[in-house]
Amino acid sequence: MDRWQTIIEPFRIHAVEPIRLTTAAERERALEAAGWNLFNLHADDVLIDFLTDSGTGAMSRDQWAAIQHGDESYAGSPSWYAFLASVQALFPFRHVIPTHQGRAAEKILFSAIGRPGRVIPNNTHFDTTRANVEYTGAEAVDLVIPEGRQPATIHPFKGNMDVAALERLLAERGDDVPVVFVTITNNSGGGQPVSLANLRAVREVCDRHAKPMFLDGCRFAENAWFIKAREPGQEHRPVVDIIREVGGLADGMTMSAKKDGLANIGGWLALNDDELAERCRNLLILTEGFVTYGGLAGRDLEAIAQGLREVVDEDYLRYRIRSTAYLGEALDAAGIPLVKPFGGHAVYLDARAMLPHIPPLEYPGQALAVELYRAGGIRGCEIGTVMFGLHPDGTEAPAAMDLVRLAIPRRTYTQSHVDYVIEVARDVASRAASLRGFRIVRQPAQLRHFTATFAPRA
Ligand code: F0G
Repeated sequence: MDRWQTIIEPFRIHAVEPIRLTTAAERERALEAAGWNLFNLHADDVLIDFLTDSGTGAMSRDQWAAIQHGDESYAGSPSWYAFLASVQALFPFRHVIPTHQGRAAEKILFSAIGRPGRVIPNNTHFDTTRANVEYTGAEAVDLVIPEGRQPATIHPFKGNMDVAALERLLAERGDDVPVVFVTITNNSGGGQPVSLANLRAVREVCDRHAKPMFLDGCRFAENAWFIKAREPGQEHRPVVDIIREVGGLADGMTMSAKKDGLANIGGWLALNDDELAERCRNLLILTEGFVTYGGLAGRDLEAIAQGLREVVDEDYLRYRIRSTAYLGEALDAAGIPLVKPFGGHAVYLDARAMLPHIPPLEYPGQALAVELYRAGGIRGCEIGTVMFGLHPDGTEAPAAMDLVRLAIPRRTYTQSHVDYVIEVARDVASRAASLRGFRIVRQPAQLRHFTATFAPRA
C-alpha cells in the first residue's frame, strides 16, 4: 500500500446515466400523485435514489462482457456451470438452486419447512423473509442482541444473535424450530455485521440441538469486510477466506444476488440436505423454472458469476464501506441522530429521535423520508412502523425503531452526490420541529409499505 490516505473509487466511469433535476413544485405534485408513498414515484422524478441498494448498482465492464457469453439453453447451459462454480467457490454447499431474487429462495424454502406451530429464529428477519415465514403460518422471531435494538449504542457487531435467547428458544420449543437463520449483515437492524465469533457460537448451539443453521447471505462480502476490520485476530485474513469460513459454518443459505452479487437481478438457495433440496427443486420447477436456470436468463447467471468475483475485491470493499461511513460521519457531525456504527450498505436516520413530536403511529420515518424527497429529490426508505407495525392478526403497534434508510447503490453515485445529500439532510434536520406525521388512507394486509397510500396530518 502507498502512503496516501484518500480512499478512492477503484474504478472510473465507463457509461453514464443522466439524472434529472426537478423543481419543488414538480416534487410536490409527484408526492400527491404517489399518495405520499415513495415507492409510487416515477423514478425519473427522483434525483438521488437511495431507496435501496438492491439491484441498483452499476455493473462492471467485465460483467457486461460476461452477459455476451450468456447461453440460453433451457437445460445445462454453460452459464449455469459458470454461476455454480462461482457460488461454490465461496459457499461450497452441495446443492445450489438458482432463483430470480432472494425472496423466491425464501418462498421455496419456507414453503418446504414452514407451517402453523413452527417458529423460525433469526437475528432480524428482513421484511420479505418475515412475510414468507408468516405466510406459511409459522412464527418469525427476532433474537438480535439488545444493543442491536438501540440506535445510538456503539457495538462493533450489532447484528449478532443473542445466543442465550436462542438457547432458551431451542430449549423450550426446539421441536418447533426447523432452522435457525442469521442475516449477514443485519439489514433491518441497521445494516449491522455479525461477528465470526457469534456465527461460531450459533453453530455450536445448533449442533447441540441438532438444528440446521442457514445464512441470509445478501451482504456477505460487506459482513466479511467488517469482520476483517473489526474482529480481533481477523485483520490479516483475506476476505475470501473469511467468507469461506462463514459459509462453512452454515448448512445452507438464501441469497439475493442483487446486493453482494453485484447484479441487477438474481439469487439462490443453497443447502446440503439432499432430501430437502429435492423438495425445494420440485417447488422451483413449479414457480421459477428448471433447476439450471431458476428464474434467470443465462446472461443473468453470467453477470452474477462475474459479480461474485468482483465483490470480494478488497479495494472495492474498502471503498464501499468507507463511502457509506463518509455519509454517516457528515450527518452525525450535523447532529442528526443515526444508527451507529454505520452499516455497510446504508446509513439509517433515527426518525423517532429526530422527530419526537410525531408518535410512532403517525409514522415519523415516513414524515422524514417524504421531507427528504420534497426538499431535494432524495428517495430513502422508511424502515419502521409503516414497514413492521401491522401484524398478521390485523393489529397495529409501534415497531422497535422508526428509521429512514439511505441505502447506497454499489459503484453508482459519486462523492459530490453524497455531499448534496448531506446538504439537503442538514436543511431538513434544521426544520425537524415543523414536520408533520401521516395517516394511512389505504393498505393491504401484508407488506403494506410497498403499496399503502398516506395523507399528511394537519
Ligand atoms: N434478505 C435481506 C437481508 C434483504 O435485504 C433482502 C432484500 C432480501 C432478503 C430479499 O431479497 O429483494 O432479492 O427478493 N432487500 C432489499 C432492500 C429489497 O432494499 O433491502 P430480494
